[in-house]
Amino acid sequence: MKKLIWMSVLAGSLLVTSLAAAAGLEIVYPADKTVVTKSNYLIIKGGDKPQLEAMVITINGVASDPIDISGADYRAAFGDLLILQPEFDAGKNQVEVKGYVAGKQVARATAVLFYQKDPMTAVPSGFVPFRMHTAEREAKCVGCHNMNPDKVEMRQTDPAKNPCASCHRRMLNRKYVHGPAGAMQCAACHSMQPKNGVKYTVSSDDAALCGGCHRQQEDRFARNKKLHGPVDAGLCLPCHDPHASDQPAQLVAKVNDLCLGCHEAIRGQVHAVQGLTGNSHPLEGRPDPSRPGRELSCAGCHDPHGGAVEQLFVQQKTSRFGLCAVCHQK
Ligand code: HEC
Ligand code: HEC
Ligand code: HEC
Ligand code: HEC
Ligand code: HEC
Ligand code: HEC
Ligand code: HEC
Ligand code: HEC
Repeated sequence: MKKLIWMSVLAGSLLVTSLAAAAGLEIVYPADKTVVTKSNYLIIKGGDKPQLEAMVITINGVASDPIDISGADYRAAFGDLLILQPEFDAGKNQVEVKGYVAGKQVARATAVLFYQKDPMTAVPSGFVPFRMHTAEREAKCVGCHNMNPDKVEMRQTDPAKNPCASCHRRMLNRKYVHGPAGAMQCAACHSMQPKNGVKYTVSSDDAALCGGCHRQQEDRFARNKKLHGPVDAGLCLPCHDPHASDQPAQLVAKVNDLCLGCHEAIRGQVHAVQGLTGNSHPLEGRPDPSRPGRELSCAGCHDPHGGAVEQLFVQQKTSRFGLCAVCHQK
């Protein structure tokens, strides 16, 4: 069972109120020929043609033990649905599901999906982004989940009652949760107005979306003489996660990893100090004297949003000397 982790979903008091029309075994998410950016779920619908008792899931050649879905308690809570946490490999993945009745294989479904683990990797042609919130896919969930919440329900801050939390709660299990996401205000950024049949889209313009609430910061950024490349392009999401993160300031990765992701050339080079010793200035792993409680990082010397000079020195410093004085008084 290396590639699959059984989800610890708790069977709630939900009842199956409606059953979809007769259908066969189907891999709902991630569907065949789609791209996903997370290895968060594998959602399979057993169907009732015939009603399956067990499934075996194979991901890239690694097969699971048979998973029993025939128990009465299981059926009452989840119907014919099986939700697992997969471990996809970066890139193309081959998923095969076999359905069993009385120990005999009676159904089979397959999907090839592309796991775009690193946002910089190119997606091969033939793969389209997965979209869950289309009428066709949502129809498979309506029996147990509220798929058409109204404005009042959307304002519900209690995760136990919020209509999005029933499926997306896990996304917020991180150390730092972004204000509006933690307050379950999904509609602050996701449109309730479907666009070309797809619900919950977000404005593609980061600066406008984020600036809606972070006006002060954006005004501060704009006052810089030099803007950092991505900020100049109106982008925030390459560095910030809008929902939750294990790093402070909602960063998608540790500061230095984040910066080196785009500035590969700095890695392993002598940086900031070219003294007689030829030693590089430390770039991490020491306390930052200018910011008590924080570790030294690229952001100790460079402002990630902008600065007064090309090198984006912190505190609007215009020279190397001015920068050094931020931490080294003499
Ligand atoms: C037969 C009832 C039933 C149907 C139909 C159903 N679900 Fe669920 N689902 C549940 C129950 C019960 C839970 C657990 C709820 C809880 O813990 O609050 C759940 C939880 C989930 C979770 C959260 C899992 C976790 O632990 O993170 C996801 C994701 C999910 N469902 C997706 C779907 C999708 C997508 C569909 C439609 C394709 C769907 N469900 C249809 C009953 C159902
Ligand atoms: C029945 C479970 C379920 C419910 C309820 C649900 N979602 Fe989803 N949603 C999913 C699954 C499964 C995916 C695909 C996996 C992922 O991206 O985590 C998804 C994907 C998304 C996406 C990515 C685009 C897409 O269509 O795939 C957005 C945005 C989203 N959901 C927003 C919301 C919001 C906002 C709510 C509340 C109004 C909500 N969802 C309620 C299951 C659900
Ligand atoms: C501050 C704005 C903001 C808030 C609040 C927000 N989202 Fe999002 N969400 C986004 C943006 C922007 C994207 C697109 C991310 C990308 O393209 O990298 C996104 C993408 C998603 C996705 C698909 C990609 C992913 O990261 O899994 C899901 C699912 C999702 N949001 C669900 C939710 C739910 C559920 C809530 C409420 C608990 C919520 N969002 C609140 C801005 C927000
Ligand atoms: C609906 C309003 C709203 C939107 C839209 C919004 N934010 Fe926030 N953001 C908040 C709130 C509230 C906080 C928490 C209060 C605080 O620390 O300022 C916060 C905190 C943050 C923080 C942490 C601040 C700190 O000092 O650590 C960052 C970073 C951030 N937001 C970035 C973004 C980005 C990037 C976007 C666009 C994807 C965005 N926000 C969109 C309301 C919003
Ligand atoms: C190149 C990466 C990068 C981009 C792009 C970026 N940020 Fe940041 N941001 C950071 C880093 C790194 C920090 C934490 C700095 C630190 O450690 O002091 C931060 C901190 C923040 C903070 C909290 C501290 C503060 O300065 O108020 C907010 C709010 C914020 N960013 C908003 C945004 C918004 C809005 C955008 C888009 C206009 C954006 N950021 C674009 C990397 C980035
Ligand atoms: C998403 C990619 C991306 C990330 C992440 C990123 N940068 Fe940049 N950075 C750029 C681009 C694009 C430019 C402008 C083009 C250039 O000069 O290379 C730039 C320019 C710079 C410059 C000015 C370079 C010069 O020639 O003087 C500095 C300094 C800098 N970045 C530091 C950082 C730091 C520190 C971080 C982490 C907080 C970071 N960058 C994260 C893309 C990125
Ligand atoms: C102790 C302060 C300090 C730290 C920490 C620091 N830098 Fe620099 N950085 C400088 C100085 C000073 C310059 C200007 C060098 C020059 O002009 O000779 C510079 C220049 C740069 C430049 C533009 C010129 C070039 O060499 O390409 C980039 C990009 C850059 N730094 C990225 C980073 C990244 C990424 C990190 C973290 C891994 C980092 N810096 C950490 C002080 C620092
Ligand atoms: C953000 C704070 C910060 C800035 C700005 C900064 N330094 Fe440092 N510097 C440090 C820290 C932290 C150390 C490690 C001190 C320790 O280990 O006790 C250090 C160590 C040094 C050392 C000793 C190197 C070694 O191997 O231990 C020299 C030399 C030095 N810095 C020169 C500079 C110069 C020159 C500048 C300006 C270009 C500069 N620093 C800017 C924080 C900074």
